[in-house]
Amino acid sequence: MHDDARGRDNCGVTGVNRRRFLGGTAMGAVMLGGVGRITQADAQISRNANQGATLSLGFAVNRRDYHLDVDPRSTLLDTLRETIGLTGTKKGCDQGQCGACTVLLDGQRVLSCLTLAATVQGRAVTTIEGLAEGEELHPMQQAFIDNDAFQCGYCTPGQIVSAVGCVNEGHAASDADIREYMSGNLCRCAAYPNIVAAVNQAKTQMRRA
Ligand code: FES
Ligand code: FES
Repeated sequence: MHDDARGRDNCGVTGVNRRRFLGGTAMGAVMLGGVGRITQADAQISRNANQGATLSLGFAVNRRDYHLDVDPRSTLLDTLRETIGLTGTKKGCDQGQCGACTVLLDGQRVLSCLTLAATVQGRAVTTIEGLAEGEELHPMQQAFIDNDAFQCGYCTPGQIVSAVGCVNEGHAASDADIREYMSGNLCRCAAYPNIVAAVNQAKTQMRRA
């Protein structure tokens, strides 16, 4: 990887070299606090990672309690799939860009590929496997089937979990709202019109439930 004479590297950062750019953003994050602030928990995770230590975690997944020793650098996605064995949540981009890994954390939508497992201590995770009640599908699962809202199905677990969150947030009042608030969930098969139809079908049943 190398910059050309005008200082443009292959990340599209122009007029400043990568090292200075990254240094500047890190300094800005520390100075501004908020999103970039380094917390005591972050520092502890960093120390544990440096020492090769594991972290003892307790949290609930689909109403069942788990107590695990995890690498402090593990994402929630990898912990769900590889440690717990719940492979319904899919890994698409692993970079927060496709929505395939969407789960609910205390009822709120999160991208599990960008969520450190260490941050879910004491919290409740819901994955696609936790939506049905026994043999009875969640209304959103049934609506996806009724409306043929998938083709290859790879994005579908993330779409369904995200759609449940979208309705519960009150962001499914119109087709435009559904498209906007589901826009973080990409579908390479372009099943979008059917997904919108499925959310419209399920939202009335979810309100009744
Ligand atoms: S796998 Fe998490 S957003 Fe793509
Ligand atoms: S159904 Fe194939 S990516 Fe969405």
